[in-house]
Amino acid sequence: MISNFYMPTRIVAGQGSLATIGRLARDLKMSHVLVVSDPVISNQDFHAAALASLAEAGIEIARFDECGIDARCSHIDAEGRRVRQERIDGVVCIGGGSVMCTGKGIAIVATNDKPMAECTGVGKFDKKALPMIMVPTTAGSGSEVSQWTIVKDEERHLKLLGGGPLSFPDAAILDPVTLRSLPMRVAALPAVDALTHAAEAYFSAIGSPITDALAIHAVGLQYGSLRASINTDDETAREANLVASCMANIACGNARLGHGHALSLPLEGHLDLPHPYGVGVLLPHVVAFNLAVLPDKVKPFAEALKVETQGLTRAGIIEGCAEAIRDLYRDIGFPERFTPEQLPGARVREMAERAVPGLYAGIAARDFDPKSTNDHTVIACPSARKMTVRQAEEIFERCLG
Ligand SMILES: [Fe+2]
Repeated sequence: MISNFYMPTRIVAGQGSLATIGRLARDLKMSHVLVVSDPVISNQDFHAAALASLAEAGIEIARFDECGIDARCSHIDAEGRRVRQERIDGVVCIGGGSVMCTGKGIAIVATNDKPMAECTGVGKFDKKALPMIMVPTTAGSGSEVSQWTIVKDEERHLKLLGGGPLSFPDAAILDPVTLRSLPMRVAALPAVDALTHAAEAYFSAIGSPITDALAIHAVGLQYGSLRASINTDDETAREANLVASCMANIACGNARLGHGHALSLPLEGHLDLPHPYGVGVLLPHVVAFNLAVLPDKVKPFAEALKVETQGLTRAGIIEGCAEAIRDLYRDIGFPERFTPEQLPGARVREMAERAVPGLYAGIAARDFDPKSTNDHTVIACPSARKMTVRQAEEIFERCLG
């Protein structure tokens, strides 16, 4: 099989790296940037330090600090128009996944001059996005090294993915100073999302030895450091989370994401479930479902999670992997099930049907009719094991609280 690995983003990592942002922006020929952030992050000292570094490098600054839980198409389209009008030539994102997805969307629509919804799907625009610098403040969505943006079309209640090789960020700065201000509960959410990115990349049928190496190392690094980074002030563990999240996304950016993300998408779009809850609660089930057909990957996966394999059958090891993830969730205060409000039992079948177009359908999902499916319809997903609507329904049922 021919595999293709591409990751053009420059990564500057380590304590103190944020101070290089002004120089990096100059290197990228930026002279007037839009700094995208949210109301909490934009009040942090490190945010002010980043702006000072940009100003010192002689760069003019415009700001958009209004990002919320999701990257909204309405924000992206309005800011994209502003960027064109004000002749802004670069986008700097300082924040978590929704901030980076918003900024990436703005960088895409600014050069392509069409609404964000029309840029969703795989490779649906033909001009390179504006130069981007990403500063993740959670560890994390991995959006800083990803060509993809996940946006919410508020009118159609759809979560849509868009991107391609023309929307990779140009640079990412991984400085653990950005993680210091996070309360424990907030920190846990994106870290679990990053673990799902690594696992789903590892289960992909279009992965390669390169993505497998990144993914399995990221699983071990993330799993091994999550308890310490969330339950203590261990800065080394948090730095490990930041790097693991970045590695996980380089892997899934090339191998793509699997069932957790495909199944979570309708919950996020129709039930307003925050992304990390969707993919995180599904993860132990997604692990068991996929490892069942990947005999060569069972042991490496178990080792990454420090599961004792001696004397266990393969099925026992797989169950041990799912249990190790649940164990982690208990230790970091992450839920194992959806509440009845997050996923009402009466809507399980509908959600399984709505998952059919998969994560990469983009705006084409708008015309999808859930009633055109049956038990045997396969969910569009690059994972090694095919999942039917009935199997998705069973997984959702096991996640009900
Ligand atoms: Fe994710």
